[in-house]
Amino acid sequence: MSQATEIVLPGVGEPESLQVRSRELPDPQAGQALVRVEATGVSYAEQQMRRGKYYDQPPFPFVPGYDLVGIVERSGDDGGPPVGQRVAALTKVGGWADRVLLDVADLVPVPPELDPAAVETVVVNGITAWRMLHRDTHTHAGQTIVVLGAAGGVGSTLVQLARDAGIRVIGTAGPSQQDRVRELGALPIDYRGENVAARVRELSPDGVAAVFDHVGGPGIVDSWGLLARGGTLVSYGTASTRDVPGNPRMPVLKLLARLTAWNLLPNGRHAKFFNLWAGRRLRPARYRAGLRRDLGEVLDRLAKGAITPQIARRFPLTDAAAALRYAEAGGITGKVVLIPEHA
Ligand SMILES: NC(=O)c1ccc[n+]([C@@H]2O[C@H](COP(=O)([O-])OP(=O)(O)OC[C@H]3O[C@@H](n4cnc5c(N)ncnc54)[C@H](OP(=O)(O)O)[C@@H]3O)[C@@H](O)[C@H]2O)c1
Repeated sequence: MSQATEIVLPGVGEPESLQVRSRELPDPQAGQALVRVEATGVSYAEQQMRRGKYYDQPPFPFVPGYDLVGIVERSGDDGGPPVGQRVAALTKVGGWADRVLLDVADLVPVPPELDPAAVETVVVNGITAWRMLHRDTHTHAGQTIVVLGAAGGVGSTLVQLARDAGIRVIGTAGPSQQDRVRELGALPIDYRGENVAARVRELSPDGVAAVFDHVGGPGIVDSWGLLARGGTLVSYGTASTRDVPGNPRMPVLKLLARLTAWNLLPNGRHAKFFNLWAGRRLRPARYRAGLRRDLGEVLDRLAKGAITPQIARRFPLTDAAAALRYAEAGGITGKVVLIPEHA
């Protein structure tokens, strides 16, 4: 048995409703490993989950935490990563803990020389950004793309991966993040103060090769309108509806209907909805192999310094409420990282 400290979300509520609890974890069984968490983080998903607005909303109470980086402390399986190995895992929930029991098949080995907090910034963010850029679009060096929310966790990673591939990036962000977006290598547009569509047309009069849109809502029409012939709209969220009451699935379903209709138009443009979890249930082995491959690509860029980890701020795990509040206030660049304090 091992002792774990976890952060529990008891129901719909404010960040301050998060509770810190201690519990005994059973010993790992065959196929499982006990991981001592070194870093986890705040994703947009937790902002939706605490409102009961996540597409795949987990039943309350639960431990949030979309991803983590840690060290294998004990293993119930000879076939998994060895004790002492640094690993990363995509969990969707459960990561906000100082120790977790995970299936060994879900652990991705991480080079020991990489800083765990740095790696944490690119687990869900890196895999999402890599896949959208290199698998969902066929953009190449010299082309121009638009990244909405370029200062966000996914956005800041996507900007850097695109720049590393020689792609010109136009990135939207709030007024306080314009310089940071420029430092990441993108041409910034203030989405609060400027007419984004008009400004993109000035910067790229012939249209752009891809738009990455996590905002959804009525603005998705503008994103579609920015594409050049042959261009791709990658929609991957509905951030604009976070505070709109109602069924959490409805905004995504409406969006899917719209994207499908656009794809029927004979205009040489494409619209896709990216889903990080697609294929997980039907083809788990292939899905896990894909995660290893894509996270490996991103970690390789991180190790070479081609991308720089964007840590908005570090908080102790037990200050998860303050961390979530801080992330929700916006106006930050990168990922809010939670660091467990091990006794
Ligand atoms: N489909 C999938 O499989 C998948 C996987 C991973 C993530 N996601 C989605 O990816 C998105 C980003 O996640 P994250 O964890 O990176 O979140 P995050 O770090 O909170 O970043 C969100 C960013 O969006 C910006 N933003 C908010 N409203 C905007 C608008 N109207 N126009 C442009 N930018 C705007 C925010 O800027 P401010 O600071 O100005 O508020 C912030 O920089 C979320 O919508 C999430 O659901 C989807």
